[in-house]
Amino acid sequence: MHMYRSHTCGELNLSHNNTTVTLAGWVQKSRDKGFMIWVDLRDRYGITQLIFDESRTDKAVFELAKTLGREFVIQVKGTVIERESKNPNMATGDIEILVSELTVLNQAMLPPFTIEDETDGGEDIRMKYRYLDIRRNPVKNSLLFRHKVTQEVRNYLSDKGFCEVETPYLIKSTPEGARDFVVPSRMNPGQFYALPQSPQTFKQLLMVGGMDKYFQIVKCFRDEDLRADRQPEFTQIDCEMAFVEQEDIIDMFEGLTRHLLKEVKGIEVDKFPRMTYEHAMKTYGNDKPDIRFGMEFGELNAVAQHKDFGVFNAAELVVGIAVPGGAAYTRKEIDAFIDWVKRPQVGASGMVYCKYEADGSLKSSVDKFYDQDDLKKWAEITGAKPGDIIFVLSGPANKTRAQLSALRMEVATRLGLRKPDEFAPLWVVDFPLLEWDEESGRFHAMHHPFTSPKPEDIHLIGTEPGKIRANAYDMVLNGNEIGGGSIRIHDKDLQARMFELLGFSKEEAENQFGFLMNAFQFGAPPHGGLAFGLDRLVAILGGQETIRDFIAFPKNNSGRDVMIDAPSAIDNKQLDELFIKLNLNS
Ligand code: AMO
Repeated sequence: MHMYRSHTCGELNLSHNNTTVTLAGWVQKSRDKGFMIWVDLRDRYGITQLIFDESRTDKAVFELAKTLGREFVIQVKGTVIERESKNPNMATGDIEILVSELTVLNQAMLPPFTIEDETDGGEDIRMKYRYLDIRRNPVKNSLLFRHKVTQEVRNYLSDKGFCEVETPYLIKSTPEGARDFVVPSRMNPGQFYALPQSPQTFKQLLMVGGMDKYFQIVKCFRDEDLRADRQPEFTQIDCEMAFVEQEDIIDMFEGLTRHLLKEVKGIEVDKFPRMTYEHAMKTYGNDKPDIRFGMEFGELNAVAQHKDFGVFNAAELVVGIAVPGGAAYTRKEIDAFIDWVKRPQVGASGMVYCKYEADGSLKSSVDKFYDQDDLKKWAEITGAKPGDIIFVLSGPANKTRAQLSALRMEVATRLGLRKPDEFAPLWVVDFPLLEWDEESGRFHAMHHPFTSPKPEDIHLIGTEPGKIRANAYDMVLNGNEIGGGSIRIHDKDLQARMFELLGFSKEEAENQFGFLMNAFQFGAPPHGGLAFGLDRLVAILGGQETIRDFIAFPKNNSGRDVMIDAPSAIDNKQLDELFIKLNLNS
């Protein structure tokens, strides 16, 4: 049998000394000393040094070796020999291959950026030539890492009796809160499929179908604004179980996360802490708190209001954090933080600060209004110690919490407290069922419309729907929501009531979700589940937060694939077939 290669470029060492091998790969670089040519040959597994020696190598082979350029694809046959100057930093650093035969399998144009760990290529050019970027270790290793995580997910869930089932991509829209990507149907003029924002309704139907424990590693599509942790198409580890309560789901998927941390990071973690949504918002200003560090919020209304400082008196919330070591900040450094919170992305109108000096004295930017005893109380409430600084924001409660949360994360980043190799998972539970949307003037489902209210809160439906808590939970890791789910409604009447609460008319509910409510009439078991964002999970386990780096062919921030140049216009014939007339001027 013809063999392209007997070994990979990452595996030869002194134990192979004097053996004849065949390797294939890409030319990483070539050094021509006239009488001697060294070539670094690279494949997925590593780099092996080749040597062509004028005195020992066939003349034609030697001449051909002189023509090799970067990224040429070659095959060589030769003998493994011990290197004179060894490279202890390379797995194959003890040996080289004295080449006897050389075949150029393919030539290559000069790559537009260097294929090295540290490349000279900017983001755009690397995206355009993503296949070259994938040859680089950082990207390649991220894809290998993703594979390992995915494999471990499948192992764990299969061991626990979950069955992987594929659900369709051409569906009817599912309301998960984002816009749908739609696909016109040629055979059904004027009608459109939607790409799933998640397989939510299908997994619930699988439970009605008796599938009991389902999972799927599945693409989801959401037409929403993009950020470092969001892509228009992304992957979920989507799961659902029947005959379970919230506690069963939490156990099962805490187990999965623990399994992943152990298998891919070698880290054992204790039972995950749990925090109610309300506590998370009050203490961290955020429903996905990063608990690798403290700086918990201290609410100062009781001690900072009713003095002569009008700004605080007028505010719904006065809230602060103690920044460790911050008393040493210079005026310039503090001003930089003030400017930071005033940026439109954060939106604070200003910031008050109070230094807790090492000698125990307190010095604030509002000393006019507060004496030492007042400021001592600020320190107590925020947990400030001598040497710290207290940053205080005020204003409408929700907005101010969000601003202080942003500041807390920024401070933590600058202080190096967000350590990528430290993992602090937690569950956030007891989410509100509904959230009020000012713009549309009605309630939206905070998770999705299939989420079950807590039974003890159901009586609030007619009176204070905003206060109903849901059997919904998020898994948070290092300040990122890596998964979320809920116990579902499995009763047709309660589901109908929920749609009503969300402002769906009977017809709209029937039209969009008739299939689900119908199914509920045929013996729907109690069920619930959750979905992890695989891209986020992998990125965070990999010590990063930009999911693009862990996706083979990602979209850029405008939702474009710059490599294949998509989206793109389609020709008139295609449009005609789909009965679509464009009106780009309206
Ligand atoms: P949810 O909408 O919370 O729940 O999504 C689950 C998880 O998917 C990830 N995620 C994303 N990742 C990358 N890019 C995006 N645009 C994006 N959007 C979401 C997040 C999130 O926690 N059907 C429900 C799950 C359930 O109830 O079982 C759902 O989709 O990590």
